[in-house]
Amino acid sequence: MAKPRSSRLLPRKSSSSIMFLAMLVIFTFLILILLGLGIFYIPSGDSRNSPKPNDLSSIVHNVVDRSYVDEDRGEQWVEAISWEPRAFIYHNFLSMEECEYLIDLAKPHMKKSKVVDSKTGKSEDSRVRTSSGTFLPRGRDKIIKSIEKRIADFTFIPVEHGEGLQVLHYEVGQKYEPHYDYFKDEVNTRNGGQRIATVLMYLSDVEEGGETVFPSAKGNISAVPWWNELSECGKGGLSVRPKMGDALLFWSMKPDATLDLSSLHG
Ligand SMILES: *[C@@H]1O[C@H](CO)[C@@H](O)[C@H](O)[C@H]1NC(C)=O
Repeated sequence: MAKPRSSRLLPRKSSSSIMFLAMLVIFTFLILILLGLGIFYIPSGDSRNSPKPNDLSSIVHNVVDRSYVDEDRGEQWVEAISWEPRAFIYHNFLSMEECEYLIDLAKPHMKKSKVVDSKTGKSEDSRVRTSSGTFLPRGRDKIIKSIEKRIADFTFIPVEHGEGLQVLHYEVGQKYEPHYDYFKDEVNTRNGGQRIATVLMYLSDVEEGGETVFPSAKGNISAVPWWNELSECGKGGLSVRPKMGDALLFWSMKPDATLDLSSLHG
């Protein structure tokens, strides 16, 4: 009983592997045809036209994705703005409604911002940080959850590895002096681990200033296309101008897990 069944199966097996081979051959031909027509493009390794890592004048051309248009958020694209530090702008990351929602949610709870003491791990008042702010619990509601999910998709870091969102407000003249987001002490590093990256989302437009500036960024900082629109303070380094809905991602650690000194920012 068993014998005839297995002998019946054998030819079917080999016919399916012939089918697979045939499809592979057809697929290979298809790629060759597409290559011949110039539809497919294999990078040739010719680096003459590709921008150098720290050539900041080329950053507007570093467009990764400009194809997706969300009705609420408009056209979205990601710009690599620097490799030291590794920094990227995601344009139209939040919709206007989401920005307004976050502001309304935070407004009644704004308190003077503190900094974390590197010895004790406690929060303290500080002259280097004069803004006000508040924390939103992780996964607080549907909108916050969807923003946290979007951050996870953008950074490739799971939601559970993130801290709760922090909403900050800067009046004219308020500031956060250049600092690192990574911890240098054991108390904080043990409590939740090291911070490896930060996403800043700009919730409103400003007339002037308000830039995020990286004073230790490598490259010719005056070569950025928006140099002439920067404030005096913004000209102190590689600067990102705030625009409602845009998100800035920068890494505080290098891919080899060492601290990135060029991630200093104010
Ligand atoms: C930096 O870029 C500016 C604007 O493109 C240019 O005028 C200047 O010569 C550059 N400086 C250096 C040191 O390359």
